Amino acid sequence: MPHKPYVIDQMISAKSIAAKIEDLATKIEVDFAGTDKLVVVGLLRGSFVFIADLVRELELPVEVDFLEASSYGDAMESSREVRIFKDLRGTIENRDVLIVEDIIDTGHTLAHVADFLKSKNPARLKSIALLDKPARREVDYKPDYIGFEIPDEFVVGYGIDFAQRNRNLPYIGKVRFTED
Ligand code: IMP
Ligand code: MG
Repeated sequence: MPHKPYVIDQMISAKSIAAKIEDLATKIEVDFAGTDKLVVVGLLRGSFVFIADLVRELELPVEVDFLEASSYGDAMESSREVRIFKDLRGTIENRDVLIVEDIIDTGHTLAHVADFLKSKNPARLKSIALLDKPARREVDYKPDYIGFEIPDEFVVGYGIDFAQRNRNLPYIGKVRFTED
């Protein structure tokens, strides 16, 4: 489906993202100090760049797994009904788990995924979102770690897409339509 023409204005530089991830990793290391294994669970597909950078900053024994939940699809509107498309490969019972999400918007996705993973009886379950749009929240869910609070803008880059495009941008940018 063709989209109206748009440009991408940079909002958060690659350098700021890298610095933020160093800070976040330090906090996670403190909170999970002494863990025998932290299972870092990336939500596909938007978190793939973030999780790659985050785990390389973590000086903890980690295992990486992925889960896919439904999201925007090709539209810009969030769906309230969240479904799990792809479950974890490994088990998390009695393990420490960190859910890694690109962006929390209405909160439905993370709240649902957290409930789903809780039912697998992890020892500890925390979550991190690189970006947070608090103005859009519909569910009372707060990630344990947040990179940047952003205004209600549609963003792309650093793993995050618009209709599957722009995931490869090294920075976060906002989508601006050039005609109406
Ligand atoms: P939720 O509304 O918190 O359930 O977020 C649903 C999903 O929408 C998240 O996993 C994000 O990947 C995606 N999403 C939210 N805001 C944006 C955005 O500005 N650009 C691209 N994807 C987004
Ligand atoms: Mg997503």
